[in-house]
Amino acid sequence: WPTFLDDIDAILELKQQRNAVVLAHNYQTPEIFHCVADIVGDSLALARKAMAVEADVIVLAGVHFMAETAKLLNPEKTVLIPDLKAGCSLADSITAADVRLLRQRYPGVPIITYVNTSVEVKAESDICCTSGNAKVVVESLGVSQVIMLPDEYLAQNIAAQTDVEIIAWKGHCEVHERFTPADIRQLREDHPGVTVLAHPECPPEVVAEADFSGSTAAMSDYVGSQKPPRVVLMTECSMSDNVAVEHPDVEFIRPCNLCPHTKRITLANIRSALEQNRHEVRIEPEIVGRARLAVERMLAL
Ligand code: 13P
Repeated sequence: WPTFLDDIDAILELKQQRNAVVLAHNYQTPEIFHCVADIVGDSLALARKAMAVEADVIVLAGVHFMAETAKLLNPEKTVLIPDLKAGCSLADSITAADVRLLRQRYPGVPIITYVNTSVEVKAESDICCTSGNAKVVVESLGVSQVIMLPDEYLAQNIAAQTDVEIIAWKGHCEVHERFTPADIRQLREDHPGVTVLAHPECPPEVVAEADFSGSTAAMSDYVGSQKPPRVVLMTECSMSDNVAVEHPDVEFIRPCNLCPHTKRITLANIRSALEQNRHEVRIEPEIVGRARLAVERMLAL
């Protein structure tokens, strides 16, 4: 705690000096989420709110693709990611060359790219989506077939909710792919009456056994509106910690799948990011326009 408090004080001071804001994803640890973040939320909320930020500097407490999205939407601002290695197994599962090959193979089929991708992949796609708006994006295109990449399970989970045919890629989130239907059955046996909420990056057979599936923000809203007496969030560990703070009356059962990338972001490196202006996110000028368009099309919906 003494180091935490020292870092928190320093970050609050540095934010004022540099006219900076900290954007934090729902998976950040509570001392970041509750003590230094100015804006928190799921990927969709962070992208939306990044557009309206009035600051010179944005520190993205999240993973690299989130920082790239913030930079795309704020080309004139300094966007910092405290650790360059804060990546994502989904973003790593596909390259821009893969997307070009898909376009050749399925001419005329729109390509929807999950925001959990590199800026190069976004630049090759028609429109982005997040787990919070994927169905809306799919159905907004008015076509009978789309390509949705790279998360195979998200694509399958959305396909189950729409008549649009979805061609998927084979990417998986290393946190969510580990949950199984057997985990849910065991949780229900061990904790009678528990309400199970699953992120749509979980395998379809997990989502099928859950009581509700939605983005990190949708899960948080569900707890707030439904007030289940006992709940389990089938997603990254810190999510429960953050939501639990606001709902002391709800019992959170916590199976813990940790995202090693998210956990690279700490109070100490947020502080150094602001002190030393690192690591600044830069996007190649040749791709910025196309990638930004894919994100803006999503946000316009
Ligand atoms: P959300 O868009 O639901 O916040 O999810 C982002 C993510 O990367 C989940 O693994």
